Amino acid sequence: MDFHGQSAFITGASVGIGRAVALLLAQRGAQVSLCDINYEKLELVKKEIEEYTKDVLIFKCDVSDEECVNDCIKKTEEAFGKVDILVNNAALWRFWSPFVETPTDEWKKLLDVNIMGTVYPTKAVLPGMLERKYGRIINVASIAGVIGNANMVHYSATKGAVISMTQALAKEVSANGITVNSVAPGSVSNSSDEDIDAWQPSELSFVGRTGTDRENADLICFLASKEAAYISGENIRIDGCRKRM
Ligand SMILES: NC(=O)c1ccc[n+]([C@@H]2O[C@H](COP(=O)([O-])OP(=O)(O)OC[C@H]3O[C@@H](n4cnc5c(N)ncnc54)[C@H](O)[C@@H]3O)[C@@H](O)[C@H]2O)c1
Repeated sequence: MDFHGQSAFITGASVGIGRAVALLLAQRGAQVSLCDINYEKLELVKKEIEEYTKDVLIFKCDVSDEECVNDCIKKTEEAFGKVDILVNNAALWRFWSPFVETPTDEWKKLLDVNIMGTVYPTKAVLPGMLERKYGRIINVASIAGVIGNANMVHYSATKGAVISMTQALAKEVSANGITVNSVAPGSVSNSSDEDIDAWQPSELSFVGRTGTDRENADLICFLASKEAAYISGENIRIDGCRKRM
């Protein structure tokens, strides 16, 4: 897979899967533009990427702020000429509580970041992709959006929405050279671990361990590649054969 001549916009790229995607795409030649609410960590990722390319932009941006997202995409298009690949990865997920105890404000926060934070970047890049008749959009969903996680009803609902949005949008744009897919990770190693190959034993998968950031990034990079032109409207589980359905 070669990404020379292509540019990618990745949300939530300061740690975990987003950082791993940014590193792999840059290593394979892409110009990368990264946004996150955590600018300090994003600066560290930029330094790592600069070992491969100087074509790296970083933005402090909350994906639930449409104006800020539009500004980042505009600046990326000005610098790189276009956005070929969009990876909607930013999300809030570390919230656990029984449904009856979950505050409404928390629901609204997750709806805003996980759903609208996927909608805004997509709306911002699509006109250019439609004009050029080329694009790759990859949404990072979750196994929770497929099977539902107890005590994470709101999170599960947002990821289910991301999966159905993926399927519906793919039907609108696939005839224009634009593919839209989602990936649904199961348990992934702790995203604060800098080693993108790190994993921990896990009883949640028949494989017996968590997935790594690199394994998730490899799948996302394949879906972002020219080689994946005939895959669109899919949600691909990457969960080591999940137990406890
Ligand atoms: N880690 C897992 O076990 C797991 C499992 C299933 C799905 N996922 C999904 O994978 C994706 C990445 O998760 P992760 O665990 O690798 O990283 P993470 O959850 O630790 O970090 C996500 C990144 O998004 C950023 N972010 C959060 N809110 C933001 C906002 N409003 N605007 C911009 N950036 C924001 C964070 O600062 C961070 O860099 C998420 O969509 C998550 O739902 C993760």
